[in-house]
Parts: sequence; C-alpha cells; structure tokens
Amino acid sequence: MRFDVLTLFPEMFPGYLGQSLLKLAIQRGLVDVKLHDIRDWAKDKHKSVDDRPFGGGPGMVLRVEPVVECVEAVREEKDSASNAKDSQVRPGRLVMLTPQGRKLDQPLVEELAAEERLILLCGRYEGFDQRVRDILEPDEISVGDYVLNGGEVAAMVVIDAVIRLIPGVLGDEQSSQQDSFSASRRHLLEFSQYTRPREFRGHQVPEVLLSGDHQQIAAWREEESRRKTEQRRGDLLSPRESGE
Ligand code: ADE
Repeated sequence: MRFDVLTLFPEMFPGYLGQSLLKLAIQRGLVDVKLHDIRDWAKDKHKSVDDRPFGGGPGMVLRVEPVVECVEAVREEKDSASNAKDSQVRPGRLVMLTPQGRKLDQPLVEELAAEERLILLCGRYEGFDQRVRDILEPDEISVGDYVLNGGEVAAMVVIDAVIRLIPGVLGDEQSSQQDSFSASRRHLLEFSQYTRPREFRGHQVPEVLLSGDHQQIAAWREEESRRKTEQRRGDLLSPRESGE
C-alpha cells in the first residue's frame, strides 16, 4: 500500500517511519511512504505558503495554489515499481487531516486499509483556504475532538492504524483480529495480559492462565473483556448485551 504525505514539515516523519513495525513493513515492500514538501510548490521567491485571512482575524491561512498544485502533481506520480514498464498511476483517496472531519474509528480504518493508495494532506496554521476543499473535494478526517498543532501527528495516527490491517505487516496474522474495536471484537475491549514473573510485589498472575486448560483460558479472557468493557466503555455494548 502506498501513502503520500503532503506536509510543510516532512522532517517530522523519518523518526517515526524508521521504527518498529512500519520500518519492517517498508523494508519488506508491503508499505511505501512518500513525503512531499508543500513548500516546493510555493510560487514566490520567499516560498510563502500561507497568508493573512481576508476579512481579518488572527493567524495565517494556507494558500490555495501551492496546496492544489502539490496534490495534483502527487496524484499524477507513478508507482516506483522496479520494472518501469509496470509502473502506473493510481489516483488514490485524498484525505485531509482536520479537526472538522469525520472522526477516525476502527470501521473507518478498515475502509482506508482497503485502498491501494492514500494521499494524506496535513494542514497547519489556522487551516486551509476553503477553495482547497472546493476544488479537491478531499475526505476530511479528524483523529479526535481536540485541536493539534497540525495534521502531521494525525497522519501518523492514520498510517499507524491502517498498516496493522495490511496482510503480512503484523508478525502474527491473528493479532489485529484480537484488537479491541476490530470487526470480530467490535464491542469488546482487550482482556488483561500477563507475562513472567508469576508474582511481583504480591501481585499474582491469575491461576487459570497457568492451568494449560485452553477452554478455561478462553472463557476467562472472554469474561475479562466483558467485565472491562462494562466498567470502562459501557457505550460499546449493545443495549441487549448491557442488559438495558
Ligand atoms: N489537525 C489539527 N487537529 C486535528 C485533529 N484533531 N485531527 C486531525 N487533524 C488535525
């Protein structure tokens, strides 16, 4: 799967891209992340990408020309296939990261993971000139009801959640299906996990997990998930399950 990230701060990404699962996924060719500096599409000699809002008010607004031209150029880019003859343009789904967007949840992550290519447009300052939306008609996505300093961290959240669902990215094919909010466990949080030592400062690992009885362990985990969900996130349980 290919991600294109359009940002004014491409240098925020290499640290994140170079770690853990994502690094391995990139090395294995399962994921490709291309960074694009919106400033490269600035027109004037000062390379300005923002300006004061018409009508007055605080802050700066991202200008329409560099953003639209950057997206258009990136959309036209071919895949970097090793065999040039096979390379093709895949227009991809354009996502603008903004607190005004549809709130990201696991069903939306699943929808995004089904795409071959995601183009993630990160904003800064007080937002985008409205004509960016009018012309490009992106899907607008928010990672939560709070305001970040820009879309970069939100883009990393999207990439992080999506790559877990790409076959082969997780070591164990089962493990993303066990995640809280995944399709098979949409309404349950994850059960508690333990590893060695069996006792620490008087806190014991539950006996059942040491029993070797897989049926009992599965039943205990199911019950744990249910209890935790009821306690913390009753809103996830359907009215029937929560006894309403
Ligand atoms: N940019 C600033 N705040 C954001 C949020 N909550 N989600 C996505 N992009 C953002």
